[in-house]
Amino acid sequence: MRDVGIESLNVYLPMYSLPLEELARARGVDPEKYWFGLGLETMAIAPPWEDAVTLAANAAAPLFESGAVSRDEIGLLLVATESAVDHAKPVSIFVHELLRAQPACRTYELKHACYSGTAALMTAVQWIASGAARGRKALVIATDIARYHRGSAGEPTQGAGAVAMVVSSVPHQLAVDFRSSGSFAEGVFDFWRPLDRREALVDGQYSVDCYLRALEGAYADFRAAEGEGTAWQPATDRYRAFLYHVPFPKMAWKAHRRLLEIDRRMSGSELGAAESERLAQASFETAVSPHLAACRAVGNSYTASLYFCLAELLEAQGERLRGQRAALFSYGSGCCAEFFTGMVGSGAGSTETGVRRLLAARRPVTIDEYEVMREAEDSPGNEFRPPEGFQGHFYYSGTDRDRRRYLPVSR
Ligand code: HMG
Repeated sequence: MRDVGIESLNVYLPMYSLPLEELARARGVDPEKYWFGLGLETMAIAPPWEDAVTLAANAAAPLFESGAVSRDEIGLLLVATESAVDHAKPVSIFVHELLRAQPACRTYELKHACYSGTAALMTAVQWIASGAARGRKALVIATDIARYHRGSAGEPTQGAGAVAMVVSSVPHQLAVDFRSSGSFAEGVFDFWRPLDRREALVDGQYSVDCYLRALEGAYADFRAAEGEGTAWQPATDRYRAFLYHVPFPKMAWKAHRRLLEIDRRMSGSELGAAESERLAQASFETAVSPHLAACRAVGNSYTASLYFCLAELLEAQGERLRGQRAALFSYGSGCCAEFFTGMVGSGAGSTETGVRRLLAARRPVTIDEYEVMREAEDSPGNEFRPPEGFQGHFYYSGTDRDRRRYLPVSR
């Protein structure tokens, strides 16, 4: 069977960022808690003229513009988000219209908190592998705006962004080993957003425990999927990079430490606590931390967060890691999780994903500007227009009676 996976990938970020130091001072918190306790430097702020639709379409548009894919090649367009704009009309059909995708296309929105980006990727990969694609390609987009109540413990872990991926049988960026992925599901109330609320509710410490339990469960299923006959080898001997869902970067450290602990238990190793911690730290510094750079600057982008790590890996380390295997862990509250692996492709590092360029182009905002933007998005009937320097192709201009209006940017 041929390899299947990500042929090309492009990211999009809103043009504003809030330094966590600025937020800490306004909330009377020691900035070191955000920098070192959570591992964050800045968070992406979506202005009122961006929503899940524009973030998604702005991530995908450059793939068509650059010729990475053409419109008539796309037979499946999946949008993963937990920031839907309508209870019935999916984000995917707004995006389909903005991108002028061909009508002979299956398109829908997927939801399972942060996990649905991976659900969409796996659906697309298996659609190609099954032969149902008939030579066409899939476009998978993960798009989200993370919002918690102002002043809550979750506030510093907000963020926004989107990642668009073309999935095909030419996986120049990452061949996905979908045959041996491991899953875990369990009904829990760690994080949720009732239908009438814009901000998520969360049982923060419990959500961290749920994430780690899901990692343990998905990794056990992954090991089982690989077959009992396979000789046991610790993950750190097999994979050169580990990418985790990143609600905040310190979570990736907690996850990596837990993964190594599981492997140690399986090997029957009797290493002392101090030595185990030292080895986990060393492995984290080489195999995890380099891929967290974008998430440190973006914050939590929910469904897109894991794929921001992938974008960072491809752009900064892609050439060096070609032909090497990476392990990926996706977690969505509620909860569902998946542990899977992939081979970094021969085209990794040869093209930009946009992540570095867009991070460099962002404008920092003050706490007052952030507060004004949060107020504005809460007021229906407002008219929005992006300022000079906007890097996107489309913006949300407001609601006209019952209809949301999306306009192209004229340059
Ligand atoms: P909190 O109560 O503000 O923080 O909540 P804390 O008291 O637990 O402190 C955090 C860390 O900072 C601790 O380190 C402190 O020691 C340290 P740890 O013990 O964890 O190693 N600290 C300091 N460090 C240096 N200098 C200081 C200082 N003070 C304290 N002065 C929490 C933190 C993450 C819970 C909160 O921000 C939150 O609720 N965030 C939202 C939920 C979340 O991100 N959960 C993560 C797992 S669930 C998930 O990933 C799914 C999700 O993405 C949603 C989806 O699936 O759609 C959220």
